[in-house]
Amino acid sequence: MTTLIKNGTVVNATGATPADVLVDGETIVALLAPGSTALGQIDADTVIDAAGKYVIPGGVDAHTHMELPFGGTNASDTFETGTRAAAWGGTTSIIDFAVQRYGERVEEGLAAWHAKADGNCAIDYGFHQIIGGVDEFSLKAMETLVDEGITSYKLFMAYPGVFYSDDAQILKAMQRAADLGLLTMMHAENGPAIDVLAEQLVSQGKTDPYFHGIARAWQMEEEATHRAIMLANLTGAPLYVVHVSAKQAVEQLAWARDKGQNVFGETCPQYLYLSLEEQLGARSDDYGAFEGAKWVCSTPLRSRAEGHQDSMWQALRTNDLQMVSTDHCPFCMKDQKELGRGDFRAIPNGIGSVEHRMDLMYQGVVTGEISLARWVELTSTTPARMFGLYGKKGVIAPGADADIVVYDPNGHTSIGYGEGKTHHMNMDHSAWEGFEIDGHVDTVISRGRVLVDGGAYLGSPGHGRYLKRGLSQYLI
Ligand code: URP
Ligand code: ZN
Ligand code: ZN
Ligand code: ZN
Repeated sequence: MTTLIKNGTVVNATGATPADVLVDGETIVALLAPGSTALGQIDADTVIDAAGKYVIPGGVDAHTHMELPFGGTNASDTFETGTRAAAWGGTTSIIDFAVQRYGERVEEGLAAWHAKADGNCAIDYGFHQIIGGVDEFSLKAMETLVDEGITSYKLFMAYPGVFYSDDAQILKAMQRAADLGLLTMMHAENGPAIDVLAEQLVSQGKTDPYFHGIARAWQMEEEATHRAIMLANLTGAPLYVVHVSAKQAVEQLAWARDKGQNVFGETCPQYLYLSLEEQLGARSDDYGAFEGAKWVCSTPLRSRAEGHQDSMWQALRTNDLQMVSTDHCPFCMKDQKELGRGDFRAIPNGIGSVEHRMDLMYQGVVTGEISLARWVELTSTTPARMFGLYGKKGVIAPGADADIVVYDPNGHTSIGYGEGKTHHMNMDHSAWEGFEIDGHVDTVISRGRVLVDGGAYLGSPGHGRYLKRGLSQYLI
């Protein structure tokens, strides 16, 4: 089976060039000068006309939580529904998080995540390992992760009693990671201090969702980010800070990077576009001020008046932040977010965005925040390099997996939950209601197979394969 995508503009992280892309089976086999097909050498089984459109490597979303048990409930997307929604939005690989909780074994957590994902994914998937309890067993289990194709693991400086690690545990894990070549991913917020602030707010009757963001003050993110950097510096462990939202945290990353330390950061669309002020102002007939629960996530949305959103865009341009993931962790309002009515601490944390990342970031190209090549770099190429998938993923080049999106810059996408809008995630609302995108995901191909063709979905559960990842290809 050969496919020829012709007349399009191929966009890689290195730039854009008019080229035809030839796919044989699951693999890209050639980039051809435009028109060479007109000479008659190529006789493909399927031809896709990409005239006037961009041909980009499929999105790699390196931070998702399908079916995550959290806050007394489970994230509402399964691997089946979540990866289907991802495919609709031009994302052809995810890296989800297998979970080990305090007192549990890493091996069991990992096996449980394989069981949830195996045979259910529409697109390729890999895992990071959450280590929610650093002890002698989990430290030992870290030695087996590389063989499992898991070359990164996540620790939490937040959520005491759930996933939290103290500094002694972090130090031990980082020492082990430095030896093994594992990339340490850090949820950098000072959880114990946040819990005190949250308790004080609730006891003053400040229970609305908005106060989640007040309790999780930027100082708590800056402080934890700095502490993580110093522990990484001491141990020599490469560090990747997840879901960065405070401009002061970015300053810490930039400071460490300028000294040559292997420190990296991601942000998420919510920290680029949404704000604490909008969350404060949110009201609905059904929920009143509890409407703001739709945007309860950690790290929290930040104040627009303080300029965090502008700083995130700036950092994406200057490479103080290297990539954009979603932290897709969807919960419905009904029966899920509602658990925290009357106490914001009980609202399950998370926003669903896996379907919209490519579009939301493309809108940054339209508004001049980032370049076309940087769009591809932030959403596909760097995630692939950072997490050991590059070559197969993250690039349109001979030998790469044929994960390809044909993106129409003259198309339009209305994001939202209602009639005529784009929404395939298993949620009863959209955190992105009303966002209008001056572009459109037209065709999505995963390892040579067309998953999305215009408005039609042609994917199926089980097409997606487990990605055994190599070591990070991004280290200094
Ligand atoms: O609010 C969030 N981010 N939920 C998912 C868990 C995490 O900390 O990434
Ligand atoms: Zn986190
Ligand atoms: Zn997360
Ligand atoms: Zn279109």
